[in-house]
Amino acid sequence: MSDILKIHDLRREFKVGSQIVKALKGVSFSVESGEFLTIMGSSGSGKSTMLNILGCLDKATSGDYFLDGVNVRSLDKDALAQLRNRKIGFVFQAYNLLPRTSALENVELPLMYQSGVGHRERRERAMHALELVKLADRFDHTPNQLSGGQQQRVAIARALVNEPVMILADEATGNLDTRTSYEIMSLMQELNQEKGKTIVFVTHEPDIASFSSRTVMLRDGLLQRDTRNTDIKSAKEALAALPVTDDY
Ligand SMILES: Nc1ncnc2c1ncn2[C@@H]1O[C@H](COP(=O)(O)OP(=O)(O)OP(=O)(O)O)[C@@H](O)[C@H]1O
Ligand SMILES: [Mg+2]
Repeated sequence: MSDILKIHDLRREFKVGSQIVKALKGVSFSVESGEFLTIMGSSGSGKSTMLNILGCLDKATSGDYFLDGVNVRSLDKDALAQLRNRKIGFVFQAYNLLPRTSALENVELPLMYQSGVGHRERRERAMHALELVKLADRFDHTPNQLSGGQQQRVAIARALVNEPVMILADEATGNLDTRTSYEIMSLMQELNQEKGKTIVFVTHEPDIASFSSRTVMLRDGLLQRDTRNTDIKSAKEALAALPVTDDY
């Protein structure tokens, strides 16, 4: 197995007025291709800061980050954007979909920045991504015509449309109820186990982490614990075991 990402002594400091906030204070770990990693830790521990650097949305103050063998520090802005576009799919807590824009068009968006992908191929790939998240029948619905879980699935389809090797998710179930969260986790497990996607998933919730193969715990900008999960729970089974509600 090869390392898809590797960080070494990663630090990130923010200057706020005359103050320096040390969000990451020297974190090192690597992730192998095909792993399903969760990043946990209390509020302010540096999870989002970490994920933004891993997703090349932000740069570390110091330390090294190798993405699929490439030292990110050596890349200029354009090369970095290209690498991000090719390798990474990002999913956020707040879905970040364009309003008044159909699911299909939202999913097509990342392909707009890719030269050589024409209108027809864009459509086909976006439809295929919507099929993967089981929303092909809602392709022409706008976000306000979809439930929270469905909107998150559109966001996941958008993250998948470029066929990235790695999916990064920041509290992607943070706004969802238990059942919908488990549905999303079931989808994540499918993408990991059947499509071989490497997943790095930030969460507060231990039950969400129990669906992953490994958990990195951050505390106050430092790696506190790095544990392999020997008893990975199946989200599909957890979903089936939820009590049936009759409140609708
Ligand atoms: N752009 C910024 N400017 C200044 N400080 C920042 C910035 N981004 C993050 N920080 C600080 O860095 C620390 C880590 O923040 P981060 O957002 O990574 O935490 P988190 O673990 O994601 O928390 P949460 O669970 O609440 O989302 C916090 O002290 C935060 O205030
Ligand atoms: Mg955060």
